[in-house]
Amino acid sequence: MTPTLTLNNGVTLPAIGLGVFQSAPEETAAAVAEALRVGYRHIDTAAAYGNEREVGEGIRRSGVNRDDIFIETKVWVSDFGYEKTLHAFEKATGKLGIDTLDLLILHQPAPDRFDTTIGAYKALETLLADGKVRAIGVSNFMPHHLERLIRETEVVPAVNQVELHPYFTQSEVQAADAARGILTQAWSPIGGITFYPGWGDETRRSVLDDATIADIARAHGKTPAQVMLRWGIQQGRSVIPKSTNPARIAENFDVFDFALSRDDLHRIDALDTGVRGGPDPDQPRAAFYDRVIDEA
Ligand code: A2P
Repeated sequence: MTPTLTLNNGVTLPAIGLGVFQSAPEETAAAVAEALRVGYRHIDTAAAYGNEREVGEGIRRSGVNRDDIFIETKVWVSDFGYEKTLHAFEKATGKLGIDTLDLLILHQPAPDRFDTTIGAYKALETLLADGKVRAIGVSNFMPHHLERLIRETEVVPAVNQVELHPYFTQSEVQAADAARGILTQAWSPIGGITFYPGWGDETRRSVLDDATIADIARAHGKTPAQVMLRWGIQQGRSVIPKSTNPARIAENFDVFDFALSRDDLHRIDALDTGVRGGPDPDQPRAAFYDRVIDEA
């Protein structure tokens, strides 16, 4: 069984999950079914990824009992606001083909319309109180977003899912999360965002090619991706590597038979560049926010 992490409301979450950001719909069901076959019990998707239906199909195809799987999805900004977010839950569960969610989070703060972010979060609180979701949280929140959200709402988020890999370790966000009892969940935990085409400068370096990570990987007889995932898990984070390739799906799950030393962990921490690969959550992007999420 996968080691678990306990959220601030007592719900447990498998430490490693399959991410499906940028998994094409036609590949997603197969990837999810394959991940469940090799032992994953946590899937992270989002309304904005456009593949919730295929995640649901992969779960059904796997034959694994729904209750044995931790299913997490995200509300997109165009669905922020109390009533719209209640409806977004119906859309997401309709597409996934399930009645309840294990974790529902806000995909990101909307800095230029934070009142709708608050309204959306209050809807998550209602869904939690009604037993429709087992835990609620946020994604891409910076410490000042967390501060304002917590000031204006009741339930402290269980999770903050943020870009986090050896080139962008977000120590301030991690500290802000920890101080409030919020679990930090790493998106792009093997640094996919440092090499995805179309995201940032094409001359940037991929963490997967980093010499220090390669050195540590060699010493443990593991791969660079496994070392980065192990680094995240040993530091108490939830990690959700994306892959649609069966060999890499299995490789990313095979991280429980070795341990990094304190020195290894420090060497990886020291690789931080302070430069994010993904978008700055504090920069409003109106056109992007307005993307409509289709009905179930
Ligand atoms: P693929 O789906 O073809 O395996 P992240 O989750 O950090 O954003 O990383 C996802 C990216 O890394 C995807 O491009 C994925 O491609 C690739 N990837 C996933 N697992 C591995 C691995 N074990 N080794 C190398 N690349 C990987």
